[in-house]
Amino acid sequence: MSAAPVIAIDGPSGSGKGTIARRVADALGYHLLDSGALYRLTALAARRRGVELDDAAALADIARGLDVMFGSDADGEEQIWLDGEDVTAELRTEETGAGASRVAALQPVRKALLDLQRAFRKPPGLVADGRDMGTQVFADAGLKVFLTASAAERAERRYKQLKGKGIGVSLAALSREIEARDRRDAERTVAPLRPADDARMLDSSGLSIDEVTNIVLDWARE
Ligand code: DC
Repeated sequence: MSAAPVIAIDGPSGSGKGTIARRVADALGYHLLDSGALYRLTALAARRRGVELDDAAALADIARGLDVMFGSDADGEEQIWLDGEDVTAELRTEETGAGASRVAALQPVRKALLDLQRAFRKPPGLVADGRDMGTQVFADAGLKVFLTASAAERAERRYKQLKGKGIGVSLAALSREIEARDRRDAERTVAPLRPADDARMLDSSGLSIDEVTNIVLDWARE
């Protein structure tokens, strides 16, 4: 039996990967993997257990043993449980994002999360979003998209997203954090953020969610 098809959507934070991945998965009836959530969960679990964010061995143990459940609330919004507790809001804070970026730079953590990520590949197919879906985790994906947007637009989108959830942040601080995180994700030595050689580049600046979704769906149907 051949493996279920995978659509890999990679790109920097705030490029709209999560939203687009969700729309494409819904349209095709595919499963969805939000791989960034696994790094966020690892960082969050570490903080709760008092594990330092540079203790690679202890963090890999946490990653390997994550008790996580993905679901959605009544409005169809993503909901994530850690050890049976709804941690969705805490997962989306910039603090957790910054922690995720740190633990994601550790090879033992990335290795520990490989099997967990690959287990999401089931019929009829999977849409996986992250930084290394097309380069590492699903290097054989049938479609690889590298989604970008200008840094200013990404900060603006994140700002609105967080504000909509009642989380208070300043746009300037957010811009600085996004740029710092981009730099760390792109410059790290293990699995740096970069497009796969066979990825299709998609700049979503100035495009609507529907427009971007339809471009990806057209590519998927090719
Ligand atoms: O997509 P996100 O903002 O939820 O990701 C959180 C952090 O996890 C981000 O700084 C980069 C890292 N990450 C990664 O290294 N590899 C992935 N496949 C997904 C996320």
